[in-house]
Amino acid sequence: MTLNIPGHRELRKIVILNPKGGSGKTTLAMNLAGYFASLGRPAALMDFDPQGSSIRWLKKRPAAQTAIYGVAAFEKKTNVTRSFQLRMPPDIRYVVVDTPAAMTTAQLTEFTPGADAILVPVLPSAIDIDAASRLIADLLLVAKVNQRMGRLGVVANRVRENNLAFHKLMAFLDHLQIPIVGALRDSQNYVHAADEGSSIHEMHPSRTKKDLASWLPLTSWLEPRLNTALNDCDAPRFGESPKPWGVSSDVVYLHNHFPRRAAKGGGHSL
Ligand SMILES: Nc1ncnc2c1ncn2[C@@H]1O[C@H](COP(=O)(O)OP(=O)(O)O)[C@@H](O)[C@H]1O
Ligand SMILES: [Mg+2]
Repeated sequence: MTLNIPGHRELRKIVILNPKGGSGKTTLAMNLAGYFASLGRPAALMDFDPQGSSIRWLKKRPAAQTAIYGVAAFEKKTNVTRSFQLRMPPDIRYVVVDTPAAMTTAQLTEFTPGADAILVPVLPSAIDIDAASRLIADLLLVAKVNQRMGRLGVVANRVRENNLAFHKLMAFLDHLQIPIVGALRDSQNYVHAADEGSSIHEMHPSRTKKDLASWLPLTSWLEPRLNTALNDCDAPRFGESPKPWGVSSDVVYLHNHFPRRAAKGGGHSL
């Protein structure tokens, strides 16, 4: 299961990872693809999960909405090459990669090379935070995701503003210098959007005002990464030891969106 996406240089890849089922990978993937579509930007959704939820969602998409190209990467086709199966129309500029639950560390590492952004949705519960902290340690040490370039971001999912577990998650990640780049509300709009083949970005804004606002930090973090080409720093050579964790100067934190303990250095950076 290798993320060896054939494509042109302008294709930007966003990988959604968390081996824990139910953390919100598919919800984030669908709504991110819907975000690009809502802006008329040509996007694809690549589904590596044998459950195929993202592809089923695409099939429900209303004809009036901008099309999103779907790639059922979980299908094992023996009559075509893998790169032929994963091919995309040349006009696609963004591909959102939805991944399955229960991946091993070895499988995880196959998804990270070449990703312009890696998003890890995490539910604010003690069990999920514990699992996510191990995932992030694996990503940083085993997959050698270069945190200095700030391509890895946690998205707190199903957040209720005054939830104690959410504050614990924030404090824990703050300690690790892992950016929480977004926090999605626990909202029935995500459930309705999933049913309708739509996204919160394409629903009537009167219904989704608060949800749309909660996406702003995430998209503000993401866009510069999509506009900055990967370089050698992002693709460490085999055998290279992990670099010390650095900090990115343009990480968007959520201080202004959710109350939290006093941030080091304040403002929008670590
Ligand atoms: N922010 C949210 N608000 C409300 N429901 C959500 C939210 N995120 C996910 N869900 C619901 O939680 C369930 C699991 O989410 P899903 O995206 O399928 O997780 P995963 O792909 O990681 O297994 C789904 O029923 C989904 O509709
Ligand atoms: Mg899923």
